[in-house]
Amino acid sequence: MSKLILVFLGPPGVGKGTQAARLAKDLTLPHISTGDLFRDHLKRDTPLGQKAKGYMNEGKLVPDELVVDLVMDRIANQDCAAGFILDGFPRTVNQDLALEKALSAKGEKVSAALYFDASRETIVERISGRRTCRACGAMSHVKYAPTKAAGVCDACGSETYQRVDDAAEKVSERLKEYDAKTGPLVPHYRGKGLLREFDAGGGVDEIYAEVKAFAEGLKD
Ligand code: AP5
Repeated sequence: MSKLILVFLGPPGVGKGTQAARLAKDLTLPHISTGDLFRDHLKRDTPLGQKAKGYMNEGKLVPDELVVDLVMDRIANQDCAAGFILDGFPRTVNQDLALEKALSAKGEKVSAALYFDASRETIVERISGRRTCRACGAMSHVKYAPTKAAGVCDACGSETYQRVDDAAEKVSERLKEYDAKTGPLVPHYRGKGLLREFDAGGGVDEIYAEVKAFAEGLKD
């Protein structure tokens, strides 16, 4: 079986992180979310976190040069030897070119890019209702995946909060950035014959059944 390298692509809040986390668990592959990596740097107030903070809080993409090294370091880790799932990376065509170069130096390549899309109304509703645990990062949604007690994480009992960039006024900026900088990756991956599109407008389980069947098919 060849190494499974999957890219999860789509607008902010469409639900790609939810799907990526579930697939990673089922396939026992690392789930590498660049958003999570940056939030960890922000929390620890590292030099990288300090550089990324302003961009993230304003809903802008962090410059490519800060992102690429972070991901290259992460995928060089031994736990990525059998494959990995990239969630939120690449987010620009340049980021994909850097990834392609690094992988081809090892005789590897991306297996597929899974592209999730839904109406803008759905996306805004998902983002505005999302809550994140301050301690373990577990995600919930006030309407679609509520915690048992409001504001308390089911997984670890810590407080949940709304991400700064999930505030309504930041969401339109994130969507603008997405359209301008990440949208071009869709024809880019289609041209490489790697794109698989998923309608992310339905329920989590319904979408996941399709995602899992597709990923299982790639392993054969
Ligand atoms: P990041 O954390 O990657 O944010 P994002 O792409 O905007 O994606 P989200 O995490 O907001 O959404 P998602 O699609 O994963 O949805 P989720 O599953 O959470 O990046 C944050 C920032 O970091 C960027 O803005 C940028 O500044 C920086 N950054 C990161 N990577 C970068 C890169 N490569 N280059 C440059 N900068 C980078 O779901 C959302 C909500 O909906 C949840 O509450 C969930 O429970 C709910 N939900 C999910 N699916 C469903 C469903 N089917 N039905 C109902 N509810 C659902």
